[in-house]
This record gives sequence, C-alpha cells and structure tokens, in this order.
Amino acid sequence: KEIIEAPILIIGSGYGGAVSALRLCEAGKKVVMLEMGLNWEKSGIPFSNMLKPGKSAAWLKKKTIAPFMNIFSLAPFTGTLDRMDFENINIWVGRGVGGGSLVNGGMAVTPKESYFKEVFPDLDSEKFYSHYFPLVQKELKVNVIGEQFLKDCPYYKFTRVGEAEAHKAGFKTIRVPNVYDFQYMEKEYRNEVPRSAFNTEVIYGNNHGKNSLDKTYLKKALETGNLEILDLHHVENIKLNGDKTYTLQVRQTDTSGTTVSEKEFNCKKLILAAGTMGTLQLLLHSNAVNHFPVHDQIGKNWGNNGNFMTGRNWVKPLSGGTGSKQSTIPVGGIDNWEDEEHPFFTEIAPLPMGMDVATALYLLINRVDKKGEVYYDPDTKKISLDWNQTNTVKMRENADYFIKKMNRANGGTRSHFLFNNGFGANVCYHPLGGCVLGKATNEYGKLKDHDNLYVLDGSLIPGTIGVNPFVTITAIAEYCIENLIRQNEFV
Ligand code: FDA
Repeated sequence: KEIIEAPILIIGSGYGGAVSALRLCEAGKKVVMLEMGLNWEKSGIPFSNMLKPGKSAAWLKKKTIAPFMNIFSLAPFTGTLDRMDFENINIWVGRGVGGGSLVNGGMAVTPKESYFKEVFPDLDSEKFYSHYFPLVQKELKVNVIGEQFLKDCPYYKFTRVGEAEAHKAGFKTIRVPNVYDFQYMEKEYRNEVPRSAFNTEVIYGNNHGKNSLDKTYLKKALETGNLEILDLHHVENIKLNGDKTYTLQVRQTDTSGTTVSEKEFNCKKLILAAGTMGTLQLLLHSNAVNHFPVHDQIGKNWGNNGNFMTGRNWVKPLSGGTGSKQSTIPVGGIDNWEDEEHPFFTEIAPLPMGMDVATALYLLINRVDKKGEVYYDPDTKKISLDWNQTNTVKMRENADYFIKKMNRANGGTRSHFLFNNGFGANVCYHPLGGCVLGKATNEYGKLKDHDNLYVLDGSLIPGTIGVNPFVTITAIAEYCIENLIRQNEFV
C-alpha cells in the first residue's frame, strides 16, 4: 500500500474546502486536497444538459436522479450529481472538484441579518455584514441580472409570470443574485458565445457562464503553487494516532468507480470539508470502525434548511404559461419571511423541460422548528437520519397556505404532475448541521476532543439559515480559517 505524508490535508473541494485551501495556501502552507469526485476541467469531458444526460449526470448510477427526470438510462460514471436516500428524505449533493458549486443553481443569497443573529447569537453579526459577506460576494463573483434583459428575454417568462402571480396574490418578490455571469448570459442570448443557461445546463454542470469554485477560490488557490488536488480519491475512514496525528484510508478509483489503488495518507492537521452528510459519515463511521473520538454533539442539530418543494399545474389559462424556453438560472424569489404565521422564502424555480408544461415550481425555505439527528447504523455501515413527518409539519402548512393563496388569485391546481400528493417534503438540497459551530466545535470550527481536527463546511450551521446556504457556508469558513490561522493552528 502506498503511504503518503502530507502535513495539512483537506477532505472535500466544496465551499468550506475551497476557502480553507485558498487562505492556507496564501499563508504559505502546502496543502493536499482529497476529492472523491472527478476533476472535470482537467478531464476535458463536457458536462451534459438536462435534456440529454450523459457522463456528468449521475454519480455511479444506472439512471438519472435529477428530480422529475428519473427517466434516462446511463452507463455508471463518476458524475456530478449524487442522491443519498434516507427513510423520509432524499438528499442531493454535488461530486467533483468544486463540490456542490458544480450542480447548484448558483443562487447567492445573504441571509437576513435578524435571522443570522438568531441562528448564530454568539457571532459578531456586524463584522459579518460589513466584512465577511461582502468578501465572499466578491470572491464568488456574485452579480445580478439586468432588469431590462429580464423584462425582454423569452427565457425568463417563467420568472415574470411567477412574479406577476405572486404580486396578484399579495406576496412580496425579490431579485436573487447569482454566480452565473449575466454579461455572459446576455451574449449567449445574442448567440455570440456557446449557450449554457439557455441550453438546459445546470444540475449536471455548466460548460460556460457559471462561476463555480473551480473558477474562483480553487483557481486562486492553485495559482499560489501550494495546493495539490487529488481527484477520484475517496476517504474511507480516519484513525487518530497516539501522537495526535491522523491516518486516512483512501481508495483511488477510475471513472467507473472501480478501485485502482488503496492508499494511506498521514497528516498532522486535518480539515473535514466533505459537506454536511460526507463529514458526518466520515466521523461516525470512523468512530465505529476505529474508535475515533466523537463528541456527543456530533450528529445533533441537523436540519433540511426548511426545504420543501411544491408546484402548481395549469398556470396556462390565466397567465399564458411559464414558457417552453427557460433559463436554468433562477433570479426571482418570494419573500414571506416577515409573516409571523407563515414565514418562508421561496425560489421561483425553472422547469426547463423543453416544452411549456404550464407548471410553476417552487423550492420553499422555511424555519426548522424541530431539528433532526444523524446517527450511525452499524448494519449498513452508513449514517441514518432521525427525521420524519413531525419535523416538516409547519413546512407543509406553509406550502399549503402558499399554493392555496396563489391558486385563489391566479387559478391553477396543486401539482400532482410533479409530486404524488402535490408536495415534495422529501426533497432536500440544503442539508445543514450535525457539527454545529460552538457546540461540536470550538468557536472557530476546531472539533472538541481533538487537537488537530477541524470541520469547515455546511455541518457547522445548525440546520437552518432561512435562505440558500452557500454564501453563509463560505462566509463562516472565511471567518473560521482566518482565526485558526491567526491562532497559529497550522504552524
Ligand atoms: P459540498 O457538498 O459543496 O462539498 C463537499 C465535497 O466533499 C464534495 O465534492 C464531495 O464529493 C466531497 N466528499 C464527500 N465525502 C468525501 C470523502 N469521503 N472523500 C473524499 N471526498 C469527499 N445553495 C445555494 O446557496 N444556492 C443554490 O442555488 C443552491 N442550489 C442547489 C442545487 C442543488 C441541485 C444542490 C444539490 C444543492 C444546491 N445548493 C444551493 C446547496 C449548496 O450547493 C450546498 O449547500 C453546498 O455545496 C455545501 O457546501 P459544503 O462546503 O458544505 O460541501
């Protein structure tokens, strides 16, 4: 077995991993990053779009797994989109160098300050809103669509209809910033450059336009010369050694998922940034197989960020339909957060199926009144989730209230076309929590009961943040790594 020594190791190349890598590399540290997914840019393999799913469509599956599109058969490949199925909830995650940034819709939303304070009472919110949030908006290249373009472009009819209907029903709408380059989008509309958002590319990766992490944080980190990214390297488990260093069992695969070599990595400092579910799997599995110490807060305070999908059919008669041409990049949202009885935020989501399906799709983000818990199942050797209908009661009530109010004002029916009973309580894109900042870790993400182990990803956020989470994950990671470096944790 090959044994590799690396002083600082990062597991995972999503938001938390990419921020940590950049700041450590800038501080002159040599960093090795292990990512189970493929380095798409290096591979030269193009991403596929939603209407013709190919290699990038799914992580080692025989058919596609994008919601409402489970119809295409595939040859198993280390694709960008994975789905982890639990008893009452399915969780979608990104795989590949760039993590979730490869597959997500790019919605770059800063949380409401009042809610941020509620979720993180111990953080200096002023510093976050004056420094960390502006910093990550700049690094992630967040921008906003031009209003005139939005008004004129046929690919945004679904947004215009969605907003007009929301106003008619008495809801407030907001413009949603994104990391997709809207200058590029205007050019693609004029056919001056290859199309991506207007060519149904998003959930299996964008070939153009989207500033995913490989174009921002990771690119800058690689330019320092201090970062090495090893893709198709799956960390199986971690062992704590007597001298407080760590040994990782790692399986290198090819793009069919077949093991090509088994490796052992030894490191002095370890950063877990495998995403909420990946980090929890590694910690709890390592505990079961290696007596790896885990604090009793690990797995607690897990939430789905209030994700609740719903939709309406027959939008056509009154509003003239949502359009057969649809951009994949959402730019509109409905903000009902101030309503004390039904607080929620919802994205006016695209449904680019290549025809006018007269259906409006919404991903609601609600409060999470009752948190869940992640635990380890020794039989399957995988994590399980204590999460059921009692956790989503209020989310369902909000979705019901929203759909009824929209239908009363605009016509339409609850979408039985998209969901069995009109609701998708089991759709989760935003798993958060389980290693909560200040509870399972110290104030900067260093895990309790450990001297050299840090968690920097979505698991630090206690199950809810009220908006799409990657801006917050990135800002928290910036805050933590800055302070950890200042405290000389990595000398
Ligand atoms: P992230 O999940 O990004 O990265 C973790 C990485 O670790 C992955 O690349 C994974 O392969 C790797 N890994 C895991 N286990 C490993 C192991 N054992 N060994 C090696 N590598 C391992 N958010 C938002 O703000 N706006 C949006 O528009 C959307 N839209 C959206 C759409 C879809 C379809 C999804 C699935 C998700 C979103 N999100 C989103 C959510 C957002 O993408 C998500 O919250 C972040 O990517 C989470 O960032 P992390 O840094 O926590 O991990």
